[in-house]
Amino acid sequence: MHARITGTGSCLPPTVVSNDDLVARGVDTSDQWIVERTGIRYRHLAEDGQKTSDLALAASLKAIEAAGIEAAKIDLIILATSTPDYIFPSSACLLQSRLGIGGAAAFDVQAVCSGFAYALAIAEKFIRSGSHRCALVVGAEVFSRILDWNDRGTCVLFGDGAGAVILEASQEPGILASALHADGAQHGILEVPGNVCGGRVIGEPFVRMDGPAVFKYAVRVLAEVAQEVLDGAGMDAAALDWLVPHQANIRIIQSTAKKLGLPMEKVVTTVDRHGNTSAASIPLALDTAVRDGRIRRGDLLMLEGVGGGFTWGAVLLRF
Ligand code: ACO
Repeated sequence: MHARITGTGSCLPPTVVSNDDLVARGVDTSDQWIVERTGIRYRHLAEDGQKTSDLALAASLKAIEAAGIEAAKIDLIILATSTPDYIFPSSACLLQSRLGIGGAAAFDVQAVCSGFAYALAIAEKFIRSGSHRCALVVGAEVFSRILDWNDRGTCVLFGDGAGAVILEASQEPGILASALHADGAQHGILEVPGNVCGGRVIGEPFVRMDGPAVFKYAVRVLAEVAQEVLDGAGMDAAALDWLVPHQANIRIIQSTAKKLGLPMEKVVTTVDRHGNTSAASIPLALDTAVRDGRIRRGDLLMLEGVGGGFTWGAVLLRF
């Protein structure tokens, strides 16, 4: 039994914010600096009151429609996010309620920007075990809620959004190999070091990052995990039709492609328009390229993510 993606969907909040808009809002930066260092030109930011589960619901409904299934068929919901609606219940349970499909297993995965790769690899294992047949796998974030707008080193990098896939049991190959890793000793290079305790925020409820350290770590582990997954499937990078990487920074993406010997024409990039949407970035990029016709049925895809924890992972699949 294989696990195959049968539908994709995504959602971006309507408010588009350019680099110049950030300057106008008082961020001490410039369009030139952001574009040169990151490749980011725009990001979408959630409206006041718009929550992760709102974006997740819209993306999920599109994925369900694309897969041509009834929502009631879904027996597993895994939602990757670092910006859940509540401490509990999970955003996956809130999403399930809004889909009106009680009974399916539902839980969140917290692996920051690697969250979607983690969630997809987990869902595949449930399906391959035979315990579940139809998974809704979502990456959704309102990352703007944990940005310190006085920290120009981080606030220019991120955006909000959601992406979703339906992963179904299939006789045809879908996911071919995956690998997940973490190194908790690196937690301090990218973190939101805050907590709620006794009704107060303890620590800092904002993203804190050592940018150069994250950059170096990301470039190394992304190339390693991509090769590990290819080796696991007995394949060569030359066989890939598309690399769909986490959209953190165009220079990280270019470096990974170069290490794999892939031309940028085979890399899906949305970082210029979406910024870094953390767990949402891979499924958002995937859905964008599916809907604009670049990614077609039968294509060989490598999805890979890296983020806080430190965490990283990759999934090789036949679409
Ligand atoms: N606008 C203008 N200047 C800035 C900005 C900004 N937005 N941010 C930082 N600077 C300044 C710094 O203050 C510093 O000035 P100084 O030399 O006078 O002290 C200078 O630019 C260089 O700062 P660095 O942090 O060394 O800049 P660097 O070239 O490393 O680029 C960046 C910073 C873009 C964050 C880079 O380190 C990076 O991309 N790292 C990866 C981080 C990332 O992608 N994180 C996303 C989350 S993790 C993930 O998804 C994988």
